[in-house]
Amino acid sequence: MSRPTTAPSDTLGIGTPAGNRRFRRRLLSWYDRVQRDLPWRESRDPYWVWVSEIMLQQTRVAAVVEHYKRFLRRFPTVAKLAAARESSVLTAWSGLGYYRRARMLHAAAKKLVRDREGKFPTTAEELRELPGVGRYTAAAIASIAFDHPVAVVDGNVERLLQRVLGKMLATEELWTTANHLLAAKRPGDFNQAVMELGATVCTPRQPKCLVCPVMEMCATRGQLKSAAKPPRQRKREIHYVFDGRKDQVLLVQRARDAALMPGMWELPQVTNVNGSGQPWLTLRHSITVTDYVVRVTRSSAPQGTEGVWLAKTRLTKLPLTGLTRKILRAAHFI
Ligand code: ADE
Repeated sequence: MSRPTTAPSDTLGIGTPAGNRRFRRRLLSWYDRVQRDLPWRESRDPYWVWVSEIMLQQTRVAAVVEHYKRFLRRFPTVAKLAAARESSVLTAWSGLGYYRRARMLHAAAKKLVRDREGKFPTTAEELRELPGVGRYTAAAIASIAFDHPVAVVDGNVERLLQRVLGKMLATEELWTTANHLLAAKRPGDFNQAVMELGATVCTPRQPKCLVCPVMEMCATRGQLKSAAKPPRQRKREIHYVFDGRKDQVLLVQRARDAALMPGMWELPQVTNVNGSGQPWLTLRHSITVTDYVVRVTRSSAPQGTEGVWLAKTRLTKLPLTGLTRKILRAAHFI
């Protein structure tokens, strides 16, 4: 009886040392060929890597690229970021949403400068002590910037591993499996390669198995259904007034202790829209699980609005909410 030349299972031995090596080799050579040209891949400076990973939490790569370049031009070093006013950081973050990330980034920069002369710690354990840096982000920075052999698990990695192995895995199993598979020689590239494969090939719907470098090692080839249904989008309508004169517009500042976007500036919101006429502008805006229809009326703000008249030229320096910026652009005001 002849011995099989490859491991006999239909996953070509994934989980065995030889199978894991094969998986790494295929994944890394695919990544070397097709990796996307992304600005944070031009340097392994931990500051660059850190900013990119914080921006990429909850936000897709395509939505991050331009913001990232702009943010690094504005704050090219951790010292510059630490020295900035919070409102400048929020302004540079405008449009990315989840502003708590920007506040934590700023707090972490201050801590790094105050306690460590702006030098980043190199291990995942120490990195986790920074505000806003959790298990995933710490592993991403330690592996990409410092070559530490620690695997990352994000939503893409989770889906990919479960499909390849053909079973659902609990959180700790996911981290253990990812760490077993990790390429110790190129951990940062390996981590980025798994995320990249999950984001571009092993996509939630209609995965592109025919171009997948590890298709022959995959137990399911796209058939494993995701247990979690995508959340249902809620629909809401909101109304604002655009009260403008010449080169000024009336904006209100959100409360400093508001749960969402505290301290940021927006158009006055109105609940009951008077008049039956057409709104001046209608646009759509999505935030996480809510799709908004946004109607903007051109009129005076309601009596009692505590607004401030702001000149157009000042708006680039103020932290506007992403939606306000979108409305002012749609209105060709900025
Ligand atoms: N998602 C989060 N970080 C990433 C990275 N460095 N490369 C690709 N996708 C990512």
